[in-house]
Amino acid sequence: MSNFKIIIYEIFPNILPVIVVTISTTVGWMILETAGLSFLGLGSQPPQADLGSMLGEGRSSLIVNPHTSYVPGAMIFLIVIGVNLFGDGIRDALDPRLSKGELVKPQPVTQIKLNRNVENNSNSFLSVQNLTTAFEFDNKLHLASKDVSFDIKKGECLGLIGESGSGKSVTALSITCLVASPPGVIVDGSVKFQGDDILKMNYEQIRELRGNKISYIFQDPLSTLHPLIKIGKQLEEAFIEHNQQKNKEATFKGKELLKLVQIPNIENVWNSYPHELSGGMRQRVSIAMALTNDPELIIADEPTTALDVTVQAQILSLLDTLRKERGLSVLFISHDFGVVSQICDRVIVMYGGQIVEEGKTENIMSKPRHPYTSQLMECVPHIGFGKRKLPTILGSPPSITYKKEIGCSFASRCLIKKDNCLNEDIKIVQKGDSEVRCLYPHE
Ligand SMILES: Nc1ncnc2c1ncn2[C@@H]1O[C@H](COP(=O)(O)OP(=O)(O)OP(=O)(O)O)[C@@H](O)[C@H]1O
Ligand code: SF4
Ligand SMILES: [Mg+2]
Repeated sequence: MSNFKIIIYEIFPNILPVIVVTISTTVGWMILETAGLSFLGLGSQPPQADLGSMLGEGRSSLIVNPHTSYVPGAMIFLIVIGVNLFGDGIRDALDPRLSKGELVKPQPVTQIKLNRNVENNSNSFLSVQNLTTAFEFDNKLHLASKDVSFDIKKGECLGLIGESGSGKSVTALSITCLVASPPGVIVDGSVKFQGDDILKMNYEQIRELRGNKISYIFQDPLSTLHPLIKIGKQLEEAFIEHNQQKNKEATFKGKELLKLVQIPNIENVWNSYPHELSGGMRQRVSIAMALTNDPELIIADEPTTALDVTVQAQILSLLDTLRKERGLSVLFISHDFGVVSQICDRVIVMYGGQIVEEGKTENIMSKPRHPYTSQLMECVPHIGFGKRKLPTILGSPPSITYKKEIGCSFASRCLIKKDNCLNEDIKIVQKGDSEVRCLYPHE
């Protein structure tokens, strides 16, 4: 890239908001300074009209005719505030996150606007029914996950797998109403956890649940750990916030957890900032933080994606051991069949925001029924087949802004599609040991 292009495409968009705000505050100061000089008789002189000199002249008749001072004073105030707000408005419009309201009015709970009352009579530990989450922009709702339904039993590990953008994180975040809002909106569904519908809880109840009974290991620990607070302080805070206990107990618990997740040199890590740790260590700290309040359900969003295979294997075995020792339920999100097959009891495959296949891990691994699942599994490299040409799934997953025609959302990439795949919306049905959303599932 040439220097000119770097300036135009990289530097300019980043400094433009700062330039706009600096200009608007400087103009505000200039107006104030000019008015101040005129007020002192050093600026423009009568008969030249100037708010500062008007204010200065009005001062002599302040008692008899107060409006002669109030009006120019109020005008100076309004002009300066107006110029500053105008600059702020332009800055907001230039930043896509600010213009969509994500940074200016972030909500602690995803907006919930349910279209209907979904019957959920399941007694499962966690039961998700018809969960549908959308993002609202360009005055439209764009669905990111549609009619997602699944159950998790106590002590079970459920895998959620699919390509990038298939709606895995949105589904998982919706369970504890953590989808960024605006623009996120939960438009349909029910999420019953131990008998109570989370989507009908108030903020205090949801807050009580988060981090306490349901913990989240986020996809990117670097952006979720606070960059300016030391690891030890963050671990203590996670404990104190839910237990109202003293620092001493929180420190003890935090260090115990770091030991549990096999962090070497605990004292050093305790006093480090997140950027001073390696990716694997940050991920372990995130796991330790998720375990702080002995949760009953852990949602792990691709906890090993950024790690090398040895660290990945350690973290997986750690999660598996913790699950078995503590009877934890886990919703494990990944796009790697190898990882999912190692620790999950059941697997859900998502495509375009919908579940396309669900079943026991061994059944899906040995006999994938949906063409998407089988094509996805074909893309996994096998040890000992180094010369095998790795197939890819042609095309790309649908974006949430894509206006879906009726029919199967995988049709444009499916190798066995037939004409009637595009004639109707496809329901998920039982096929053998699995449930599949396909008119022609593999036998
Ligand atoms: N804040 C947002 N605003 C608008 N669209 C969003 C937002 N967050 C996610 N999306 C869209 O929702 C869809 C699902 O995103 P999601 O993060 O759930 O994907 P994912 O399956 O977790 O992918 P990955 O494997 O890359 O993490 C994507 O098409 C994405 O573009
Ligand atoms: S419904 Fe048709 S297009 Fe869709 S996955 Fe099945 S065979 Fe392919
Ligand atoms: Mg994700």
